[in-house]
Amino acid sequence: MNLKIPIAKPTLKGNELKYVTECIETGWISSAGKFVEKFEEKFADFCNVKHGVSCSNGTVAIHLALMALGIGKGDEVIIPDYTFAATANAVLYTGAKPILVDVEEDTWCMDPKLIKDKITPNTKAIIPVHIYGHPCDMDKIMKIAKENKLFVIEDCAEAHGAEYKGGKVGGIGDIGCFSFYGNKIITTGEGGMCITNDKKLANKMRVLKNHGMDESKRYWHEIIGYNYRITNLQAAVGLAQLEQINEFIEKRIKIAELYNKHLKDIKGITLPPKKEWAKNVYWMYCILIKDEFPISRDELIEKLKEKGIDSRKFFFPLSMMTPYKDDSASPVSKLLSNKGICLPTFTDMSEEEIKEIIESVKEVSN
Ligand SMILES: Cc1ncc(COP(=O)(O)O)c(C=O)c1O
Repeated sequence: MNLKIPIAKPTLKGNELKYVTECIETGWISSAGKFVEKFEEKFADFCNVKHGVSCSNGTVAIHLALMALGIGKGDEVIIPDYTFAATANAVLYTGAKPILVDVEEDTWCMDPKLIKDKITPNTKAIIPVHIYGHPCDMDKIMKIAKENKLFVIEDCAEAHGAEYKGGKVGGIGDIGCFSFYGNKIITTGEGGMCITNDKKLANKMRVLKNHGMDESKRYWHEIIGYNYRITNLQAAVGLAQLEQINEFIEKRIKIAELYNKHLKDIKGITLPPKKEWAKNVYWMYCILIKDEFPISRDELIEKLKEKGIDSRKFFFPLSMMTPYKDDSASPVSKLLSNKGICLPTFTDMSEEEIKEIIESVKEVSN
């Protein structure tokens, strides 16, 4: 159903049409073409990292990263219980096992204190997920990884431009993986990117995403690869989006500030996390609706819908679902899943729209 105020929508008002038109007029619409390389270079620059390897979406970005690091059958990879299923699915594609840890109440990200207990001789990597645009506590995670010789793949699907202690996410671990799905901070429709400072890893990912074909010997395959390429059309949109990314991020931060200002005094509402060391880029502005709020989270979603305002429940903890089932307790992930709601967050939102949403939440809380 199309509601008056959607939960998300892309802003495509820069050079998107111009660059896509160029692809069509020149015939470069497939995965060869100048926009792919440009987009990779400029996105890596934006993240302050040396190499960018584009791909078809954020899920396969994680799959490529895991394969490039040699992770496969018999290996274990530690991931947060609270994340979108793609993080776990990518691990399962390699034959490795996702090992779930609960998240922190004050960042909603993987709890570093719980990682050590999950490490076994089979553990090969950790995938911190910068959820909803707030970075994980990376120093603690990197220290554990170093002490235990584990790789770190940052899942940055929701956190383009987010910063941890002044440094951009994605370049802290071995590889950072991004999604450019239509609701992301910048979009290519569908699309993804792996970034790394390690040339060898970048080259491995390039070969893997292109059928495993030897880069210097056409049609020669030493390994089994995939077709995980992005198209020049998508990269054209991506480049145009990238030209506006700082503006998009600033706008999201302003939207969050406005929401915070008006929701902070409402009993029963927990505002989104914002650690002093973090730049939260608010991919989604999300709050928790606690028991002190006059109606339940689900009732709030219904009431907002009646007023033409879209919103979303949080994810389910992975541990609850059959492919990832784990009976060990994950109290914070469960709490978030039961109480969390994402409110509309998109670059083009007007102040009137934000105020209308705030007024609607206030109305039902009185
Ligand atoms: C945390 C997280 N990881 C991975 C992905 C996968 O990205 P994509 O949908 O582009 O495959 C998503 C997104 O949608 C996500 O939110």
